[in-house]
Amino acid sequence: MIEIIDIKKSFNGKEVLKGISAKFEPTINSLIIGASGTGKSVLLKCIVGLEKPDSGQILYDGRDLVTSPKKVAKEIRRDIGMLFQGGALFDSKTVEENVRFPLDMLDEGMTKEEKQERVNTCLARVGLENANKKFPSEISGGMKKRVGIARAIVMNPKYLFCDEPNSGLDPNTSILIDNLIAEITDEYNITTVVVTHDMNSVMGIGEYVMFMNQGHKVWEGDMDTILESDNEELHEFVYSSQAMLAMQTLHSQTKTNRNKKTSPK
Ligand SMILES: Nc1ncnc2c1ncn2[C@@H]1O[C@H](COP(=O)(O)OP(=O)(O)OP(=O)(O)O)[C@@H](O)[C@H]1O
Ligand SMILES: [Mg+2]
Repeated sequence: MIEIIDIKKSFNGKEVLKGISAKFEPTINSLIIGASGTGKSVLLKCIVGLEKPDSGQILYDGRDLVTSPKKVAKEIRRDIGMLFQGGALFDSKTVEENVRFPLDMLDEGMTKEEKQERVNTCLARVGLENANKKFPSEISGGMKKRVGIARAIVMNPKYLFCDEPNSGLDPNTSILIDNLIAEITDEYNITTVVVTHDMNSVMGIGEYVMFMNQGHKVWEGDMDTILESDNEELHEFVYSSQAMLAMQTLHSQTKTNRNKKTSPK
């Protein structure tokens, strides 16, 4: 489990994170949502250690990433996989070289053959068995995300972070990527945190959803309770998407039907 407690972060006197606390559990798809510029990526960067919070605690199974001795912090980092916004693949490396990169960087004594086997297993897991020798410029956006996911899981992480995994993808491909992340989370018992704008993702895989607004956590709940929330800021965010209006209508109708079924005659 990852627990964050009262995280604060400012840049040049501007407070971006204003005291955020939350818990992210293993095998649960945890989503961080909120409008652009609200601090989602900064929060994610603080959690993984790419930015240092000004105050607060980030506990990985009880171990504080910020204050732990270097050795412990290194162990925690070793267990983190990250899918970066935009993919962050190396254009000059092939798919398999991209996926192998963390294995080479954190050289843990694996032989060349063992690395190749691990890379192939991860590529197969994301449905990319035949793309080893291709370059990023030769594959589609959805395939690039899959390569990013394969690279994020190549070290067998306990914790997986994905920043906007659906950006730039069409709705169908987005659902495939969401489902892949959800399956991997469950299958490998990973604690996963996904930052997204996408209400389809929320309604598809949002088992824990945290809504941020202007550096605060404004609401938390799940995909079932989000449509019933009367929090004004959340409401505005959720219903800024036309598709969500249709979703609300369907949701109300389902509830009406359910009540009809259960009400005594
Ligand atoms: N390194 C930095 N230096 C100064 N300001 C920063 C830095 N990183 C982020 N910010 C500011 O912090 C605020 C929150 O940025 P952040 O990238 O977390 O937003 P976000 O919620 O991820 O938005 P989006 O949905 O567009 O990705 C923005 O005003 C941004 O300009
Ligand atoms: Mg962002």
